[in-house]
Amino acid sequence: MTEQRTVQFRVFRYKQGRERPWYDTFDVTVTPRTTVLEALQFIRRVHDPSLMLRHSCHHASCGTCGMRINGQERLACITRVHDIAGERVTVEPLANLPIIGDLVVDMKAFYAKFTPMAMPLIRHSEFLPEAEPPEGVDTYTRLENCIECGLCVSVCPVAASDPLYLGPAALAAAWRVVQEPRGQNVPEILAQVDTAHGCWRCHIAMECSAVCPSHVDPGAAIMALRGTLIRQHLPWRRKQQGGDAHEPR
Ligand code: SF4
Ligand code: SF4
Ligand code: FES
Repeated sequence: MTEQRTVQFRVFRYKQGRERPWYDTFDVTVTPRTTVLEALQFIRRVHDPSLMLRHSCHHASCGTCGMRINGQERLACITRVHDIAGERVTVEPLANLPIIGDLVVDMKAFYAKFTPMAMPLIRHSEFLPEAEPPEGVDTYTRLENCIECGLCVSVCPVAASDPLYLGPAALAAAWRVVQEPRGQNVPEILAQVDTAHGCWRCHIAMECSAVCPSHVDPGAAIMALRGTLIRQHLPWRRKQQGGDAHEPR
């Protein structure tokens, strides 16, 4: 017999035009296999069809279901309710990104931080050519390894205090291009991250690496960018290069 129990979900709510957000609570019967995403879909189907949430793949691939679950950044589709301590689950949208409604955040600012030179890392997805991209999106693309879930930006204390900070995902993407330039202008990429709001702004607490579901390890990427830049800024290196050019290694 499947072990069932009832869990109370406390869900963050916000609708544009309303003065302030609020929380609603819903009882959901779960089994040991029920995920937070399935519970939220149940709430939407049975209790409140106006609940806004985002999801697609259900297997940690699309990166769309990121949210804070009991204060911890997670992908809802691979988080089992059973694995969360307590009889109450609080679900909130990602932090440090504007909220569109309920659990859905606006990812435009997140993508805007990526250098256009990370484009060689972005490939066309396996979507059928005849599939219709949503309005405003030219085509389906994805960055290798990084699933662009935004968990790292949500957990980052620097992103919380500095809206101009490039952030862990964009810096990790920059480091990938430096590692494997595929014809891109590496000195220019290094110059883009060698700023007060770039890799030097990081506090090295590594929360981003701890929450990343794709093992991108943005904190290590940021440290690697710094190491590369420090080596370039060494006086003997500058002299060797005849200036302050940003050539890696
Ligand atoms: S290591 Fe840097 S980028 Fe990562 S969470 Fe900490 S401050 Fe943010
Ligand atoms: S680096 Fe990791 S946590 Fe950050 S957006 Fe990419 S996959 Fe998500
Ligand atoms: S639904 Fe795709 S990552 Fe969760």
